Amino acid sequence: MKLQAVKGTQDILPERQPAWRAVVSAAERVLGGAGAGKISTPVFEASEVFEKSVGDSADLVVQKEMYTFEDRGGRRLTLRPEFTAGVMRAFIEHGMHTLPHPVKLWSEGPLFRAENPQRGRFRQFHQVNYEAVGNDSPLADAEAIELLYRTLAECGLTRHRVKLGSVGDPSDRLAYNAYLRRELEGVADRLSPVSRERLRLNPLRVLDSKDERDQAVIAHLDRPLDRLAGPAREHLERVAGYLGDWEVPFDLDPAIVRGLDYYCRTAFEVHYHGIGAQSALGGGGRYDGLIELLGGPPLPATGWAVGIERVLDALEQEATTPTPAARPDLFVVPLDDAAVAEAADVATRLRRAGLRVEFAYQRRNPGKGLKEADRSGARHAALRGADERGRGAWQLKDLTTGQQAEVTTEGLRDALGAAAAPR
Ligand code: HAM
Repeated sequence: MKLQAVKGTQDILPERQPAWRAVVSAAERVLGGAGAGKISTPVFEASEVFEKSVGDSADLVVQKEMYTFEDRGGRRLTLRPEFTAGVMRAFIEHGMHTLPHPVKLWSEGPLFRAENPQRGRFRQFHQVNYEAVGNDSPLADAEAIELLYRTLAECGLTRHRVKLGSVGDPSDRLAYNAYLRRELEGVADRLSPVSRERLRLNPLRVLDSKDERDQAVIAHLDRPLDRLAGPAREHLERVAGYLGDWEVPFDLDPAIVRGLDYYCRTAFEVHYHGIGAQSALGGGGRYDGLIELLGGPPLPATGWAVGIERVLDALEQEATTPTPAARPDLFVVPLDDAAVAEAADVATRLRRAGLRVEFAYQRRNPGKGLKEADRSGARHAALRGADERGRGAWQLKDLTTGQQAEVTTEGLRDALGAAAAPR
């Protein structure tokens, strides 16, 4: 049997790492610049942390497709399907509510959801996540959306679109769910099985369905936005107002429904056309009740997450020039057996001095050695045989210009230091 990565997981190979790092460091610049501190939480938590955050219904827990298991001590643990609940658990545990509000926290790392894999949808995927706790004003929502938009722009994207909506206050949601039940219960037999189940558990999520049968049934219904009561409507208008002032382009989306159930009022997504059906690069919103639900003080909060894999997919669509892989400054070629250890030695010392250096692990003839140096992408090659050893020197060849000069071992650092690309 051939060993392979588990379905829905993937390896991030060296050539993909620079783009990956660029996305995370863009986030760090933008979010750090707005006063967010980085927080890393464990990859697994007590299952309760996530179960509480999705509500009491066991069916909804299953619906969230969590990887839950029992450890040897019989504890129920879950691989985190998102950051928010774990970050809020840490926020409460470390008494962070005493910090000046809003407390802004960002994170990055792997998440796990047992979903059906397809383009842009994996079982292990990665997010950059942002949370701002302790402020209930539309300003905190607008700030979060601006940061989301600019994080993606800073990654190099130009064609991402913000969709802004509102899921209303809990009372709006109750009223809207009652409206959906009234409208849909009579025609439930025309809905897909998944939507029939959702109609029973959380009718709002029926609007999430991409199924054509469902779309036909729900097309004429009022959207949550059409039925917002005054306070939630006013909140949304103010968020939109700030975004307008700051020239963050967005579309109002009356149908926006978020997959997770803890949201209230502001809800938003960022989409990108051209990366397949899973076109949401990120999403988030306000979740004022969650911290209290997890046993903390009643603090309002807002936040979002972007999927790193989808951002990279979108970046490839924009045909931005990918960051070229870093090239070695030097490739060291031993021309006889005695030079093998000398090559490794000089490489090690130059690396300690901050240069990027590779070497051949065996004696090479000059032709083969230079070919190998070329393949490594190095800017220079240093070669040594018996003659050079006698003089305590190396033949240093510039692989771009072909120029060659003899340089002493001690002189290599300076000769290369001048030529090495700034890092
Ligand atoms: P979410 O909408 O579930 O929100 O996920 C955010 C983003 O993560 C999605 O837009 C997508 O780019 C990416 N994503 C989600 N699932 C997958 C998957 N299976 N494969 C690849 N990418 C995926 C949340 O996670 C909320 N916790 C965001 C939030 C933070 N709300 C408030 N604060």
